[in-house]
Amino acid sequence: METTHRVFVGDSRDLSQVTDDSVELVVTSPPYPMIEMWDDLFTELDPAVGEALAAGDGRDAFEAMHAQLDRVWDELERVLVDGGIACINVGDATRSVDGSFRVYPNHARVLEAFERRGFDPLPDILWRKPANSAAKFMGSGMIPPNAYVTLEHEYILVFRKGEESRSFEPGADRRYEAAYFWEERNRWFTDVWTDVRGELQAIDATDDDLRERSAAYPLEIPYRLLCMYSAYGDTVLDPFWGTGTTTLAAMCAGRDSVGYELEDAFLEVFDEGVEAVPALSRSIGRARLERHREFVDRRREEGKGFEYDADYYETPVVTKMERGIRLREVSAVHETDDGYRLEHAPLVLE
Ligand SMILES: C[S@@+](CC[C@H](N)C(=O)[O-])C[C@H]1O[C@@H](n2cnc3c(N)ncnc32)[C@H](O)[C@@H]1O
Repeated sequence: METTHRVFVGDSRDLSQVTDDSVELVVTSPPYPMIEMWDDLFTELDPAVGEALAAGDGRDAFEAMHAQLDRVWDELERVLVDGGIACINVGDATRSVDGSFRVYPNHARVLEAFERRGFDPLPDILWRKPANSAAKFMGSGMIPPNAYVTLEHEYILVFRKGEESRSFEPGADRRYEAAYFWEERNRWFTDVWTDVRGELQAIDATDDDLRERSAAYPLEIPYRLLCMYSAYGDTVLDPFWGTGTTTLAAMCAGRDSVGYELEDAFLEVFDEGVEAVPALSRSIGRARLERHREFVDRRREEGKGFEYDADYYETPVVTKMERGIRLREVSAVHETDDGYRLEHAPLVLE
């Protein structure tokens, strides 16, 4: 099996290198409106943002920033297939403008934007992002009533394009081989993720400093979303590519990817780290199988049995749907004119 990964330095308000109805999944995290680190970027996209901020008009600035994101959402509507899914990671912003403190509810504004474009919202996910202690307590400290709650969660908003889910031919291998384990389903499909920092931390390829500057999300987030909402052979798009975490996840999960990023410096860094992908994909796959075996041991200790065996691994599974699971590892990475072509082999466990 092969996958391709294209990355464009450019403005995703115009995704003209991506054809209509050619993307099955979007996984992305935009610059968050009203978070100060993105003020300059939004002002470059539209000078009205800077003018509103300078005039102390938070509402106008918030709206002008979202108007720029709206143009990207228009493009997603064009490139996604019917029934395709968009997962948008976004956090709300708290800020004082002209002496007045308030929350700017980015998640609500993005939700509204997608609904207006004919997407159906699906149940969303909250994940906890610990704030550093300096930013933790805002307002008047220990005296009521003017202290404010600290935001320590972000949203993963999930939308389906149109009313109908995607359909596949019965028994499609590319879907059944991309199945996940029952116990993974139980963790991944809960609406509050408190465990995203732990698991894949050791296998992150990019250095922490760069990830901080680009507001990168942990690899675990796009990796899970890709496993949850796409099959082998699907293409995932990230229009706000940053350090390329979504592409890294797509490489490891055996999906095709496309990314757009304004800053070409991020692409160079990704290029330097790409040779680590085969080892990374193997370690992610092995860790999943290892965790499954631990689950099997625990379940047996509890006196519970298994009705099915996996077809490709020597392990029992809880449900019939898991039998065809076949993880992939990257066996070779080749550079192409606009990104990478990867070869994948089935992951085997000695
Ligand atoms: C929150 S960061 C994404 C981080 C990414 N998820 C990661 O893990 O590294 C948003 C990124 O979008 C880029 N960006 C903002 N507006 C853009 C636009 N109109 N077109 C392309 N990239 C854009 C920024 O340069 C920034 O790198």
